Amino acid sequence: MKKTKGIVLAGGEGTRLFPTTKIYSKQLITIYDKPLIYYPLSTLILSGINEILIISTKTSLPLFKKIFKDGRDFGLVIKYAYQERPRGIADSLIIGEDFIGKDDVMLILGDNIYYGDMDFLRRAKNENENATIFGYYVSDPQRYGVVEFDEKRKVISIEEKPKNPKSNYAVCGIYIYDKYCSYYAKKLKPSKRGELEITDLNRIYLEKNQLKLEIMGRGIAWLDTGTPRSMLEASSFIGTIEQRQNLKIGCIEEVCLRMGFLKKRNFLKLVKNYPESDYKNYLLKIYEEVR
Ligand code: TTP
Repeated sequence: MKKTKGIVLAGGEGTRLFPTTKIYSKQLITIYDKPLIYYPLSTLILSGINEILIISTKTSLPLFKKIFKDGRDFGLVIKYAYQERPRGIADSLIIGEDFIGKDDVMLILGDNIYYGDMDFLRRAKNENENATIFGYYVSDPQRYGVVEFDEKRKVISIEEKPKNPKSNYAVCGIYIYDKYCSYYAKKLKPSKRGELEITDLNRIYLEKNQLKLEIMGRGIAWLDTGTPRSMLEASSFIGTIEQRQNLKIGCIEEVCLRMGFLKKRNFLKLVKNYPESDYKNYLLKIYEEVR
């Protein structure tokens, strides 16, 4: 069976979160009880991916390394690369060219949180032929890449932040590509804002009739963080659900254990070394529960 690797794009300027982002990338900021990157990273893992490249700025990369090291403690393989400056989302596929190699890749933005049943993502990953994007109904599509499609879900157009959106469906910050994505990304020209636009890459696949659209249903919550208010709202969303269910969202150790990447024995070894905390107590409870 073909293999799919993962990339988390966790750099950027994060200007809207200045002054915090003067110190480090926004994906290190806490959302309720853990750094923001835990959420998109666990989404990749839940879709069955265990080989992941984290791309960030030169200053923040050592901080991510401090958390995840080479990934072995979690039963993962984690590699790192830095982006000199925010040259655009599609730039990540050029940076990741060697990492991707001959495999498919699932790219996720490091500031996106998805909550809900991830079966659809696992299926989309396994069924991907060339490129797959996800559409999500939003009230303010002009802030996003917008996808227009017919009744058979065939993509008609995709536009980046259009003034007059042709639909209410935003293109989510998760994309699946075949091994040719780096080659196509290298052909892109920077847009007016000086970035290699992921929308332009998706358009290349669309023109080749190779772009598949999946609709992310309303049973999934997609939160896009980046402003102080959206960080607060995401924290309170996560906090409310965690409190109600006594289950954590985006808990990497738990996800790796449940996905079978981390053996119970190694899970315990890892968690035993954690400082006394609610996080540790939670993981010890999970250890007792998971067979
Ligand atoms: P954006 O929200 O477009 O940009 P930003 O996070 O830098 O924020 P701001 O607009 O406040 O300056 O980025 C989306 C995600 O992709 C986010 O996780 C940062 C990341 N990113 C990069 O790592 N490199 C890039 O070149 C770009 C454009 C984004």
